Amino acid sequence: MTLQLNVNGINQTVTVSDGNMPLLWVLRDLLGLTGTKYGCGIEVCGACTVMVDGQPERSCDMDVTSAVGKKIVTIEGLSANQSHPAQKAWIANQVPQCGFCQSGVLMSVACAMKAGHRGSQIMSEVQNLCVCGTYQRMKEAVKAL
Ligand code: FES
Ligand code: FES
Repeated sequence: MTLQLNVNGINQTVTVSDGNMPLLWVLRDLLGLTGTKYGCGIEVCGACTVMVDGQPERSCDMDVTSAVGKKIVTIEGLSANQSHPAQKAWIANQVPQCGFCQSGVLMSVACAMKAGHRGSQIMSEVQNLCVCGTYQRMKEAVKAL
């Protein structure tokens, strides 16, 4: 089936064999947006988090058909040139270690900010796992937001 998706402000046409295909596969394999990561595949780790109509969504467990008609934002579309305040704070505080979880973390942070959370409040909205354990640096970074 052929579907229309709005990803990072661009209307995209994708052809999928199954409407239950996870949005994550469409982003990564069909659209080449590999900044969004696959971690657990069971809605736990948050590595696959994207913004859908302003809300954080685990794209590993969201059928692509559920994303039709919605505005999807991935890490590639969060800003031009890493200029989102969260990205700047992450760089200033050298938050990432391996970096694998961080695009999902940043999308969760961006969604929390969009919902009006600021400073240390933000981390209470971020339910992402980081195997490297960078939580202390994340907590420091959000203080500037
Ligand atoms: S890969 Fe989606 S929550 Fe872990
Ligand atoms: S920075 Fe390595 S998993 Fe989070």
